[in-house]
Amino acid sequence: MTVEIRQTFDEIASSENQFQLATYKKMPIAAERGEGVWVYSSDGDRYLDLYGGHAVAATGHAHPHVVTAIQQQAEKLLFYSNLVYSEPRARAAEKLISVAPADLQKVFFCNSGTEANENAMRSARMATGRENIITFSGGFHGRTADSISATFLGKYRQLGRPNVPGHLQAEFGDIASVRALADDTVAAIMLEPIQSMAGVRTADPSFHRELRQICDESGIKLIYDEVQTGIGRTGQWFFAGSEAAAQVVPDIITLAKALGSGVPVGACLVTDEIASHIKENDLGTTFGGGMIAMAAVAATVEAIETDGMLENVRSVEVHLRRSLANVEAVRQVRGLGFLLGVEFNAKAALIHEGLLKRRIITGTSSDPHVLRLLPPLCLGKTEVDYFVAELRDVLKEIA
Ligand SMILES: Cc1ncc(COP(=O)(O)O)c(C=O)c1O
Repeated sequence: MTVEIRQTFDEIASSENQFQLATYKKMPIAAERGEGVWVYSSDGDRYLDLYGGHAVAATGHAHPHVVTAIQQQAEKLLFYSNLVYSEPRARAAEKLISVAPADLQKVFFCNSGTEANENAMRSARMATGRENIITFSGGFHGRTADSISATFLGKYRQLGRPNVPGHLQAEFGDIASVRALADDTVAAIMLEPIQSMAGVRTADPSFHRELRQICDESGIKLIYDEVQTGIGRTGQWFFAGSEAAAQVVPDIITLAKALGSGVPVGACLVTDEIASHIKENDLGTTFGGGMIAMAAVAATVEAIETDGMLENVRSVEVHLRRSLANVEAVRQVRGLGFLLGVEFNAKAALIHEGLLKRRIITGTSSDPHVLRLLPPLCLGKTEVDYFVAELRDVLKEIA
């Protein structure tokens, strides 16, 4: 079989624009291959990737261990459903549980972040016999019906109308607003522990401690949506259990993005108590736990461990923060590890554009002054220095 390969950016872009719905604002790059923190375009240009394909490429692009695991699995069996047992699924589950907080001993695999959140909310409702869910202003949880109804950020919830009933909004960081809603109709409190899309907003550790207290007092399940923060992004395997969380461990953690290094996969990690309420056929999805995704999950965890990426995130974060502290236009650096929001006194969109011209990919957010950095966990200090030097030039240009 011969396959026509379109080589120039213009050919690729015009084809995509002709045949796909125009639902994304795209950068003028046709990504062809990647290696570590670098992405190469079809025109042969090299880009420093400080966005990681939206926090997905945690192990770096085309990590050899992950690529080999996927290749070897593809040669054996692409897929069989959960109606059979499989060694890659057993290994992925065991590996993931081995790095999870000790209270979370069971996993349910699905295919995306929004699906993980839907299943988390459903599990909490099953475990409590209650229906309402509290989420927070500025949180983003995905675009399927229940998750978008739990999303009180910008226009998203409106897009999901008619919304699923039973979603209540509290103010992120404001424990009194949670107490006012937390009665015996509430099944779960769900939050992004660092609100990424809203501009990398964090809450005080005491907020997490008090959330846990409210949940324990009122029979409510606590769900951390760690679709962005999970799998090493904060310099720990999970935000849950960390110092920033006041060591709080929720009843459910949801994951996706980095979990398969780019192979679509999502997961809910749950306590034994939640698991005891979930029976055969209560949750399910055809592709969840498929062999390619499972090979990618196990290899992702192994690569992060073997390459010491958690330690790398912690030490490079310090270097990045120190370097940015000397840049005058930077007002504040928010977040943790490699989920950082750099607040400028200039428009982030202009800085993003200027950096892109200099072949550095970054992200924006719903806060117009915040540039988001979500790089692969293998980003080094040399690349940080390169980024900060280019950033200074961009800031001079737009001043
Ligand atoms: C915190 C958070 N939760 C959920 C989602 C939804 O994930 P997905 O796009 O895989 O459905 C996202 C996606 O950006 C996210 O950032």
